[in-house]
Amino acid sequence: MNMDAMDQAAVKEMAGRAAVEALVRSGMKLGLGTGSTAVFAVRHIGDLLARGKLSGIRAVPTSFQTAIECEKWDIPLFTLNSREIGGTLDLTIDGADEVDPQNRLVKGGGGALLLEKIVAYASASYAIVVDESKLVKALGVKFPVPVEVIPGARIPVTLALEKLGAQVTLREAVRKAGPVITDHGNLLLDIRFAIPPDPRALEAELNRIPGVVENGFFTGPHDRSLLPRIFVGRADNPV
Ligand code: 5RP
Repeated sequence: MNMDAMDQAAVKEMAGRAAVEALVRSGMKLGLGTGSTAVFAVRHIGDLLARGKLSGIRAVPTSFQTAIECEKWDIPLFTLNSREIGGTLDLTIDGADEVDPQNRLVKGGGGALLLEKIVAYASASYAIVVDESKLVKALGVKFPVPVEVIPGARIPVTLALEKLGAQVTLREAVRKAGPVITDHGNLLLDIRFAIPPDPRALEAELNRIPGVVENGFFTGPHDRSLLPRIFVGRADNPV
């Protein structure tokens, strides 16, 4: 790992730990996000449990990656459907690919957007952990926004997205020939816009295209405010 990568990991760790210290309490039902920043929150929770500083945590992971990390740390795992969870969570901590000045997000760089959104909507409160490179003025221009699509709808959905002005790329797997298959057996179409879109309107519009399962704009439920509290790790500053 070069020095920059080490610094970036330290900054991500700072953000992940800060969110846990500020918000996680014994007995909570937690949604645990995915990615290289959220993993530091998971590890800190695991460490606090191992040292007896935290107890009674019930966790719902948002991906295989996070479930495996939780197993390593003996964090008790459930699904949203488990009787111990009952479909609602106290708090979710997750990462993000972009955060705008209104705390709206683009997520899904790790391909886990579907469960990440379901878990976020089931949570009473929501925290996002990022390094400062994720802060942007407008969503959907710099980082591509993933659209999760059932495999049989790949081409019609691509055409519909192009009609909306998006540049569309099927996400390719690494060390496996062909496309990424999500944890739910779907494909990901990564879309990018030359002109900043209206994220709230587009989030709803994308999900109206038949074959689209979910998209990576997270602008919050329309019936209540679920905009997250953002914990930003900065190289030169405490969170
Ligand atoms: C996964 C996500 C991640 O939270 C997002 O991609 C950020 O990941 P990282 O912290 O590794 O940059 O949405 O689907």
